[in-house]
Order: sequence, then structure tokens, then C-alpha cells
Amino acid sequence: MTYRTSNRVCIYGAGSIGTYVGGRLQAVGVPVSFIGRPRIAAQVKAHGLHLSDWQGADVHLSAESLDFSENDAAVEHADIVIVTVKSAATYEVGQALAKRLRPEAVVISLQNGIGNAAVLSQHLPDNSVLSGMISFNVVQQGEGRFHAGTEGELMCDRHALLEPMLTLFKEADLPLELRDDMLQVQWSKLLMNLNNAINALSGIPLYDQLSQRNYRRCLALLIREALAVLHRASIRPASLMPVPMSLLPAVLSVPDWLFKRLAQRMLAIDPKARSSMWEDLEGGRRTEVDWINGEVIKLAANVGARAPANSRIVELVRAAEEGGERNWRGDELLAVLRDSCGGAA
Ligand SMILES: NC(=O)c1ccc[n+]([C@@H]2O[C@H](COP(=O)([O-])OP(=O)(O)OC[C@H]3O[C@@H](n4cnc5c(N)ncnc54)[C@H](OP(=O)(O)O)[C@@H]3O)[C@@H](O)[C@H]2O)c1
Repeated sequence: MTYRTSNRVCIYGAGSIGTYVGGRLQAVGVPVSFIGRPRIAAQVKAHGLHLSDWQGADVHLSAESLDFSENDAAVEHADIVIVTVKSAATYEVGQALAKRLRPEAVVISLQNGIGNAAVLSQHLPDNSVLSGMISFNVVQQGEGRFHAGTEGELMCDRHALLEPMLTLFKEADLPLELRDDMLQVQWSKLLMNLNNAINALSGIPLYDQLSQRNYRRCLALLIREALAVLHRASIRPASLMPVPMSLLPAVLSVPDWLFKRLAQRMLAIDPKARSSMWEDLEGGRRTEVDWINGEVIKLAANVGARAPANSRIVELVRAAEEGGERNWRGDELLAVLRDSCGGAA
């Protein structure tokens, strides 16, 4: 294979996002190594990778073309390491990278939440560690199939090594924007990710869930609460949507027929797409709720505020992790969240 860049990319934690992003980059001529677990390794060995998206893209990479390993030796040759484990595994990955990574290698945390890059940085004081953000959704469909079910882009802290690669990211259908305001971007993404817990607890696909006003009112409640905390902390989330973040709770709360007209982009979702938090509950794994809603609670504590609705939904997700209720109706969930705020909101 003729490569189109000398920058070797290593995906650390090849699950939904890592496999999709790494595979799409390899398909346009980027040298990529994948580090992942035996379950995905076995699929890749048997079937290669089939990467599809909601607009009809369909990319196949043969098993022989893929450098997929269950150990992390590939890190030693990497110029760019993209970390795509769930947040609970970031600390362990930071420790592992510290043993093998060259000081000139650049690390990108392409994870949800706010603090993952800082956790990696603790272990990698000599490396540039960049915060990244991916706004689309990828689901695993088995047998090496990964499907991107929504539109979206990638954003990352600005770094000179990435500038010459922007064209390749674009060709790979992974438009990457380099930004100087990643903290604000991450908070903006986190506000949208407050829906992950609602989706996980609803037990239904994202499209169906967001089409129902009561679930959207739950999201509006969580976002409104988070915006108040951010305001108090003097953090202004980046404007990533056509609607200003401050108006989002009002837009979410309108009747279904109006929402379908106003928010076509938000509902441009593959009918089968679900949040990765739902996937975690389904797979019996620990969710990232502490790194999403938990960040709102943490920030609230830091600025002397409260976040009762976010606290309540964290409790519900934790209960679901332990086998509790996972099929909340919108009206039931809304009542519980409103109750946590003393019936207000
Ligand atoms: N999926 C989405 O649609 C989506 C969208 C936007 C953002 N994100 C964010 O992107 C990040 C990755 O999410 P994801 O859905 O891709 O997660 P995922 O499917 O669980 O992929 C992570 C993979 O890393 C593996 N892993 C964990 N620790 C490892 C280690 N030490 N060495 C090697 N492999 C390891 C996991 O294996 P085990 O499960 O066996 O530990 C898993 O296969 C998360 O922060 C998520 O919130 C996801």
C-alpha cells in the first residue's frame, strides 16, 4: 500500500469510534495501527472491517490489510495516538502510554467528557496531549461492521502536525476542525451528551426518544441546570448548533409537530442509532455517566451551586448498571427529575 502521509496513526482502544475513525483514515492512505481487545480482534481477523454511514458510504478493509493487535507495541512507532477508550479506562491507558510513547508523538483524546486529556497529560508530561471531540454516533453491528448513524464532525486542539492531514481527514468523510477553544467545545458537546443518559434509560432508539416531548423536556431540564452552573463558572459553551445553546431548552420543549419542523438537523439520525451509554448498559459495562452528568455535578460543587436533576439521573443510571429499571417512559422520567428539583422546572 502506498501511504499518503508519513505520520503513523495508532488507535488506542479500537471499539466503535476508534475502529471507524482509524478504518476510514486507512482507507484514504493513512498508515494506521489498532490496539484493542480480543472480541474486536477476532471479528477483524474473520471479517476485516465494513464501515458504513447514514449517507450510504460503504468501505471495506480486508483482514490482511489491517494491523490490529491486542498488545500496545505499535505505540512505539506512532506519530499520532488517538485514544478512544471509554473514560473509565483513560488512566490505565495513560500509564501504558508513558512506558512506550516517544516524546515527540502527539496524543489526541477523542473521548466524551471534559477531563480525559488532562488525565493523559498527567502521565505524559513530555508529549502534546490534545483534547478532541467527535460529534457523530457509531454503533457496532457485529462481524466487523461499524455504522455511523448521524452526521457530524471532529474537532481538536490546534497542532502543526495535524494541519497537513486535514485534507486526508476530509477525504475520509471525517472533517476535522482545529480549534483554539476546545474547553468551550467540549462543554457544548457535553450539554448535548446529557441526552445519553436519557436515551439509555428510555430503552428506545435516539430518533424515537427525541421525537417524544417528555423525553425532550427531561433533556431541557438537564441542559438548563447545566447552563446555570456554567454561567456561574463563567464558562461559555461554544456555539456548535444553528440554535444558541441558551435557547435549546425552549426549542426542546415545544410540541412534537413543531419540533419536527424546527429541529430537522437534530432528528437527522439513523432510525436504529442509540447512545453509547445504552450500549454500555446493554453490554453490562460501566457507563460514562460520571464523566458526563458527573462533570456538571462536580462543577456545580466547585462554584457553590447544585445540580439536583443531573444528580438524580446519575443515580438512575447507576441503578440501571446494577440491573435496575431501563425502560423509563418519558412522563415517568420527567416526573422523577422534576421532583428532584422540588417540583420546579
Ligand atoms: N460510540 C459513539 O457513538 C460515540 C460518539 C461520540 C463520542 N464517543 C466517545 O468516544 C469514546 C469511545 O467510545 P466508543 O463507543 O468507541 O467505546 P467502545 O466501543 O467501548 O470502544 C473502546 C474500546 O476500547 C477497549 N479498551 C478499553 N481499555 C483498553 C485497553 N487498555 N487497551 C486496549 N483496548 C481497550 C474496549 O474494550 P472493553 O470494552 O473490552 O474494555 C473497547 O473495545 C468514549 O468517550 C465515548 O463517549 C462515542
